Amino acid sequence: MDVFDGNKFLNTVLLLITTIIVAKLISYFIIPKSKKRLPLILPGWPIIGGLLRFLKGPIFMLREEYPKLGGVFTLKIFHKNITFLIGPEVSAHFFKAPETDLSQQEVYQFNVPTFGPGVVFDVDYSVRQEQFRFFTEALRVNKLKSYVNQMVSEAEDYFSKWGSSGEVDLKYELEHLIILTASRCLLGREVRDKLFDDVSALFHDLDNGMLPISVLFPYLPIPAHRRRDNARKKLAEIFANIISSRKGSNKSEDDMLQCFIDSKYKDGRPTTEAEVTGLLIAALFAGQHTSSITSTWTGAYLLCNKQYLSGVVEEQKNLMAKHGDRVDHDVLAEMDVLYRCIKEALRLHPPLIMLLRSSHSDFSVTTREGKEYDIPKGHIVATSPAFANRLPHIFNDPDKYDPDRYAVGREEDKAAGAFSYISFGGGRHGCLGEPFAYLQIKAIWAHLLRNFELELLSPFPEIDWNAMVVGVKGKVMVRYKRRELSVNQ
Ligand code: HEM
Ligand SMILES: *[C@@H]1O[C@H](CO)[C@@H](O)[C@H](O)[C@H]1NC(C)=O
Ligand SMILES: *[C@@H]1O[C@H](CO)[C@@H](O)[C@H](O)[C@H]1NC(C)=O
Repeated sequence: MDVFDGNKFLNTVLLLITTIIVAKLISYFIIPKSKKRLPLILPGWPIIGGLLRFLKGPIFMLREEYPKLGGVFTLKIFHKNITFLIGPEVSAHFFKAPETDLSQQEVYQFNVPTFGPGVVFDVDYSVRQEQFRFFTEALRVNKLKSYVNQMVSEAEDYFSKWGSSGEVDLKYELEHLIILTASRCLLGREVRDKLFDDVSALFHDLDNGMLPISVLFPYLPIPAHRRRDNARKKLAEIFANIISSRKGSNKSEDDMLQCFIDSKYKDGRPTTEAEVTGLLIAALFAGQHTSSITSTWTGAYLLCNKQYLSGVVEEQKNLMAKHGDRVDHDVLAEMDVLYRCIKEALRLHPPLIMLLRSSHSDFSVTTREGKEYDIPKGHIVATSPAFANRLPHIFNDPDKYDPDRYAVGREEDKAAGAFSYISFGGGRHGCLGEPFAYLQIKAIWAHLLRNFELELLSPFPEIDWNAMVVGVKGKVMVRYKRRELSVNQ
């Protein structure tokens, strides 16, 4: 009896232990989700959470938190969880995930009243994808070649109006030149030649109607939003007229407007006038301030770094020796030194400082230190070109202007794979206008370097963190003197 009872007891204990172990194993292998390793939530105020810190400037917050917490943490604003993924090790999913996992539509909704109905973030992904295809086609190399000729002649025209010497606000001058060029290449000859003042005034109202508050409340009844909505209506009328007159007269032009008019959806349906207008507005919003800001930073750095300035001037001389005065797509493509100088200005000052997605599925990331985090669906995820572009484990002496870091042998922009340098985003939604932007900025600076001696009069500019597209604060005064760059100099 005793022996039997003892055995029974032992068996029960063994069974119990086995059950516990098996249960543990099952829970470990089958349901690891029950032990979520959530990112730390930054402390914040009740209800509004981290709103105040966020409004004070996300970059300042990242500078404080990254050294303490690493690249993954969550900020609560109202009921939203915004999880940051900083650094190429954790941001790959951000850039590569399909739309079903991470989408743009919700977080970029605030663009809808500006771009207008029926385009980009107002339509389903399947339609949006087709509209992005229209962008891709409008920015193909054969099209870029004809845009470049327009960029070059706009720059020649513009700077021919400068005197033989003088002082200018370079920031203002480059903004102006870029809107003229964008009008010509994107909006078309009709706007550039006849309607420039009207249309740029309307774009100005659209611009001023996109405020930080518009991101949260795009339809708030404030005067800036009312002016935005009126401007959007008037632009629609202007473009409807231009489009129907082009269609009526069988005229075909070399501009983005024409590409959008000629674009067709998969089912054969052509674009409507309203869609063409919306796509053009989207192109201008994507490409105008970003390019003009980058041109200004490039100038500020070149004029403060004689070593790099003489490098780009030398390159122009070599190209003039080879090609004479010809500046076209292929000559611009040879300007590697200038390219690296622009790229480095853009690393230090990406105009889009924060990129967002809305997450629809759980995912996990592993940091550089080997820590794993699970990010639950429903979070907003964010990454920051302005912060990630200065990570010291990727960019040597990251705050230094050093265009040679991209030269063969160093290639720091690829140090940690495709998402090391993210001024243009990357992956699934990488910038479609990158080649266009470089061509435009190179065309401007090639002209300036060949025709003027320049000197920066203002102190080195500060960053205007408060703008939606982050740029240069205040004026950038420059003294110029005309010169003929001679090949044998
Ligand atoms: C220096 C100039 C520019 C910079 C720094 C820049 C930056 C960016 C960035 C960071 C993104 C990714 C946004 C995200 O992932 O949420 C983007 C997307 C885009 N950019 Fe640019 N951009 C520039 C010029 C241009 C120009 C000139 C155009 C067109 C003419 C353009 C058209 C686009 C388009 C259509 C997208 C959306 C791509 C997509 O969502 O699939 N960009 N740009
Ligand atoms: C435009 O082209 C179409 C087809 O090529 C033609 O039928 C039409 O008469 C042309 N219209 C004008 C105004 O030239
Ligand atoms: C945000 O995170 C908290 C804590 O992890 C969670 O309780 C809450 O449901 C989340 N909110 C949303 C909208 O995902």
